[in-house]
Amino acid sequence: MCGIVVAIAQQNIVPVLLEGLRKLEYRGYDSAGLAVIRTQEGPSLERLRSVGRVAELAAQADDLQAQLGIAHTRWATHGIPSERNAHPHISDQLAVVHNGIIENYEILRERLQGEGYTFVSDTDTEAIAHLLHSHLKRGQDFVGAVRATVSELVGAYAIGVISEHEPDTAIVARSGSPLVVGISPNGNFAASDTSALLQVTREVMYLENGDIAVLTRNNVRVLRADGQSVQRPVSTSQLSADAVELGQYRHYMQKEIFEQPRALGDTLAMLGGAHSISPQLFGADAQRVLSETQRVLIIACGTSWHAGMVARYWIEEIAGISCSVEIASEYRYRRSVAEPGTLVVVISQSGETADTLAALKHAKSLGLNLSLAICNVPESAIVRESELRFITRAGPEIGVASTKAFTTQLAALALLALSIGKVKGKLSPEAEKDALDSLRHLPVAIAKVLELEPAIAQWAQGFAMKQHALFLGRGMHYPIALEGALKLKEISYIHAEAYPAGELKHGPLALVDKDMPVIAVAPNDALLEKLKSNLQEVRARGGELFVFADQGFEIPESDGLHILRMPENYGLLSPVLHVVPLQLLSYHAALVKGTDVDKPRNLAKSVTVE
Ligand code: F6R
Repeated sequence: MCGIVVAIAQQNIVPVLLEGLRKLEYRGYDSAGLAVIRTQEGPSLERLRSVGRVAELAAQADDLQAQLGIAHTRWATHGIPSERNAHPHISDQLAVVHNGIIENYEILRERLQGEGYTFVSDTDTEAIAHLLHSHLKRGQDFVGAVRATVSELVGAYAIGVISEHEPDTAIVARSGSPLVVGISPNGNFAASDTSALLQVTREVMYLENGDIAVLTRNNVRVLRADGQSVQRPVSTSQLSADAVELGQYRHYMQKEIFEQPRALGDTLAMLGGAHSISPQLFGADAQRVLSETQRVLIIACGTSWHAGMVARYWIEEIAGISCSVEIASEYRYRRSVAEPGTLVVVISQSGETADTLAALKHAKSLGLNLSLAICNVPESAIVRESELRFITRAGPEIGVASTKAFTTQLAALALLALSIGKVKGKLSPEAEKDALDSLRHLPVAIAKVLELEPAIAQWAQGFAMKQHALFLGRGMHYPIALEGALKLKEISYIHAEAYPAGELKHGPLALVDKDMPVIAVAPNDALLEKLKSNLQEVRARGGELFVFADQGFEIPESDGLHILRMPENYGLLSPVLHVVPLQLLSYHAALVKGTDVDKPRNLAKSVTVE
């Protein structure tokens, strides 16, 4: 997670770059840097970098003056925090800042080394700088070279580029990572979020995935990925200087659903370019704790409990040790058997949930001293109470209905299952590599799922009129059905229940008629044929089915049977993908019903009372 700022103006932009970085420090602060084109004696590129806070960089930049520049504050992913790895990265006379993760950087790096480029950092960003340079060398113009470069990038990026040969232009581009352009009569700017731009303008333009914007002192030109010029709407930001911005979204919940590629990328960024899992992701003492672990007890509430339920499948399958999952408010009052060698895993977005905190203390009072918190808030009570910790990097979650916190918890739990599997010698090198590849690809895979939004919004129209809904899933997708039902209840107030599909015939089938929509999560796994039979049972009773299927689900759509196919089949990590359309479905059903999406009635974000 990093922050970028770009500025081109009539006046000195160095203070603008520095103030922008200060606003973006929440996105990372292990190094900061800037590059400018000075024009006093002909254009010349100058770069300053510092390992540490923006204040240190500002001290170095005391005398610097320029009208064009880029800046960056870093949260290290590829390569340790050091001056060498700090942005901007340079290739000859051009400089690049980048927020995101380039998945194919190793391939690019090898190819560019073959062409004679020397790499001086461990970052993925340096590959972008040299790639851009290689396109310029082949005779492309500045814009053409940026287009050619981004077309070769796999992964997520927001970049800002300047060149000594182009003293009147800055180019920015984005896909997957956020980028907003700020427009003013005195110049044009871009940054990772609006808070960094409020110092110079409130007129902002949100770039879409694939967009490239060419900034000059008095103009902004936007090109789509196919090279066509496009107008993006300019709006006036209402953001107060310290609020979490809503951007182009109607609600925080919608924003947070769409932030999931970024949130997962940031959460998984600590893997860096590693080829193997390190238990140390969970703390310095994790190797010892995990080797003492003989079984796992997961404790959580609500959505976090659903994440724990998915993890049970992963831990038992990947690590081969038993795992139980408890609702915190039940566990703390139940007389349970405390077995030695139990790792207590507490999951909480806020880290302040009273029941979860009390259940953790209860477990410790029973002598269960191996504990791990998976949490989104670093300094929270639950984190402080636990021996090991994994901090998810979802960023602040404002919408009461949890979305990005859930998928980042799943990512953390997948890493946990893999780490225990590794410590226990249950993880083959091939399985480890496959799992790492799938994890790293998650942000891109989720971005593709989000493209289903228009079709899901259409489904939601009919849905919103219903009083009840039934969600079905099997295996590790049963908790996903539970999560889909919870989301729908919470924000649209439609009564929803979830069942493992095999349980249907043992009771709930009695509820099924034309007024009870049935939503099925249907991944292409070993249980698919069984699930299809369960769905036939619904169809035979006149129930209307809405199926989120994988590729390869071969029943054709017909009256009363609606199917949306997920872009990719995702094996063990499939629950992370399959929850996303259910989040969108409840969001759009709530929109149609006109409820208060971000603050549903009777609920609160942090449940700090029992
Ligand atoms: C549902 C939701 C709640 C929380 C639950 C636990 O959308 O957000 O069910 O998951 O209150 O909260 P945390 O994770 O903060 O402990």
